[in-house]
Amino acid sequence: MRKKIVAGNWKMNLTLAQAEQLINDILQAGLRLQDGQEVVVATPFPYLLKAKALLKNNPGFYVAAQNCASEKSGAYTGEVSAEMLQSIGVDYVILGHSERREYFQESNAILAKKIDLALANGLKPIFCCGEPLEVRKAETQNEYVAKQLEESLFHLTEEQLKNVVIAYEPIWAIGTGLTASAAQAQDMHAYIRSQIAAKYGREAALRTTIQYGGSAKPSNAGELFACPDVDGGLIGGASLVAADFVAIVKSLA
Ligand code: G3P
Repeated sequence: MRKKIVAGNWKMNLTLAQAEQLINDILQAGLRLQDGQEVVVATPFPYLLKAKALLKNNPGFYVAAQNCASEKSGAYTGEVSAEMLQSIGVDYVILGHSERREYFQESNAILAKKIDLALANGLKPIFCCGEPLEVRKAETQNEYVAKQLEESLFHLTEEQLKNVVIAYEPIWAIGTGLTASAAQAQDMHAYIRSQIAAKYGREAALRTTIQYGGSAKPSNAGELFACPDVDGGLIGGASLVAADFVAIVKSLA
């Protein structure tokens, strides 16, 4: 039985006081997670330690960084290494988000290095993939995502892949309110799973958690999460509102 995970990607938002309030509001909602269900809070770097402390007595709740460096350590001013994140108890790290690919020119090759460093330091990558609108309109989204998987993930061993979560985030759905339909999400998730099966075998494919991200809201999460190959969500805007994020977590089948 693969894990079902709802992760809140806060992106570059909130002050420390607002972050603390949001986490406390989520915890006070009294969520009862079933076996195999996880909630992940991906805060900006400065709040990770506080988030870890607030969540520590809540089984099933984890923290994620939103990035890590593609180098082990050294003269890279401003960067944060995977080893540093491990040293403060971070559990997951989002890698390959479309905003980092676009604004910081993170290529598939750079992301492969980040994936390796994250795994080498005990972090579980949440690897983001997904196509831009022009690719969707050209109906070449499968080839586009297959290339992202091949160039950033498929050098891993089957054992390493056990610690990787995949998040399908169609770029045209991120922050737009234009959510992928359940059929579109299911089609791509099933395709991603088929690519994993072709590379690593059926057991590895069935074991891999594949989240959906892109304008997931309380109003559509239930339909999305009911799809057989959708194993939760990577939530942006709605994760900044405790009631909405809690409602989305409750939508996990
Ligand atoms: O990483 C999740 C994020 O990109 C989705 O954002 O606001 O469309 O839920 P949003």
